[in-house]
Amino acid sequence: MLSPPVGGHMKARVTASAAYTIGDIDKRLYGSFLEHLGRAIYTGIYEPGHPEADEQGMRRDVIDLVRALDTPICRYPGGNFVSAYNWEDGIGPQESRPKRLDLAWRTTESNQVGIHEFADWAEKAGTEMMLAVNLGSRGLDAARAFVEYVNHPGGTYWSDLRIRNGRRTPWNCRLWCLGNEMDGPWQIGHKSAEEYGHLANETAKALRGLDPTLELVVCGSSHSNMPTYPQWEATVLEATYDQVDYISLHMYFENYEKNTQEYLALPAKLDRYIGTVAGVIDYVKAKRRSKRQVRISFDEWNVWYHNRQQDAERVRTWDWPEAPRLLEDVYNFEDVLQVGCILNTFIRRSDVVRIACIAQLVNVIAPIMTEPGGPAWRQTIYWPFMLASKHGRGTALQLAVDVPSYDAAVADRVPWLDIAGTHDADRGTLTLFAINRHASEAIEAEVALEGFAARAVDHTIIRHDDLEATNTMEAPDAVSPRKGNGARLGGRGLELTLPPHSYSMIEVTL
Ligand code: AHR
Repeated sequence: MLSPPVGGHMKARVTASAAYTIGDIDKRLYGSFLEHLGRAIYTGIYEPGHPEADEQGMRRDVIDLVRALDTPICRYPGGNFVSAYNWEDGIGPQESRPKRLDLAWRTTESNQVGIHEFADWAEKAGTEMMLAVNLGSRGLDAARAFVEYVNHPGGTYWSDLRIRNGRRTPWNCRLWCLGNEMDGPWQIGHKSAEEYGHLANETAKALRGLDPTLELVVCGSSHSNMPTYPQWEATVLEATYDQVDYISLHMYFENYEKNTQEYLALPAKLDRYIGTVAGVIDYVKAKRRSKRQVRISFDEWNVWYHNRQQDAERVRTWDWPEAPRLLEDVYNFEDVLQVGCILNTFIRRSDVVRIACIAQLVNVIAPIMTEPGGPAWRQTIYWPFMLASKHGRGTALQLAVDVPSYDAAVADRVPWLDIAGTHDADRGTLTLFAINRHASEAIEAEVALEGFAARAVDHTIIRHDDLEATNTMEAPDAVSPRKGNGARLGGRGLELTLPPHSYSMIEVTL
């Protein structure tokens, strides 16, 4: 173990070897999420009359920002919203669609955007749909009708209705969520693990009857703090193991105490959560003597606390507004470091976490913000997500890391340097994502490269003197990536200088 920091610098030793890999990264690790919540849809992606709106009312400026993120899937339409949603309300002529009370967020849903509008938007934004069915207020029958409407070519009631509504070719959505957060008492139609496990299994059987090749996601825990975790996973998987492909996990990160060191240790809890559920999957697999391998879909994650308590108060008292400002957390530079560490955790666990969705994408706890009638801009967290999504593809590397660490409330031995590595053989690059968690010490890291011949190295850095710095409509680029000068090719590999509290991406051309 290396000695702790002395005199403003600490040393780290890292080895990246072509022979030590975790496995291929599923590109859906960089998925996203849009819910009918607040202004995610209305005045987020959809704003007819906006100067940037296309012929369908979709904002082109937002589409451009989403396209640049290169997010391969987008989960829709919720979230808590889905658990009382009638998908049929969102089809047919827009002027005759019903307005409904949305019980999850106490708002009014106009249904001006439904599956047709969202599917067209997804195509424009360069992403594929991951759709959720309502297993809260509804069940198997509404779910099978929805899948038939979306995926069946024609000649049946639901598929012909889709065709009459303007869409001849089916969308052929591959990935379906069996409800949302069904372990949460706040969920409309909340169920016990036994009740939900039975319903999810029967629904999955019906959907597989339509198409055995669908990929199905069953609900795991809403957070590792839930009182039913991890028994929930065991019970639900025992009921569904033969029918599902993924179990979904959610986690949101908070810093109410304004303690950066503790805050940046939270990904250790995320790592433990993933490890535990991987163990539960193995337990059920062994118990059933099954060859099938269920994996994790981490389909909601992000920082969420900046406005959370105020929002909860407002929702309790308001009078069913349409598309109100809700969950519009403004992210700061500290959150860049956190999002970088979360993404690194997913890369290091990418053998079991195949899918992950940042929650959410626009306006609602989101990397992209919009002003009605005004501009769209990137929040601080847009950047680490974009860099990982574009450069963190290929094979995840099993790095050997030797660096001093600290003991935090959630875990002991949290390394000051959080680092993950990927090798993209197609592009001929090796990429390291490195976060220095230390407030005052730079990290001098020697990176040995084994089995990789480095030709050039490029350093991109995100840093700000103020952890609370944000990007706003007026100053949208206050926190953004710059070209760094902390990476050099050395004798055995790389020499890195990573300033205190910084996010770095180091890309090596091979
Ligand atoms: O993403 C916001 C909300 O968080 C989602 O609706 C719900 O699934 C989770 O509790």
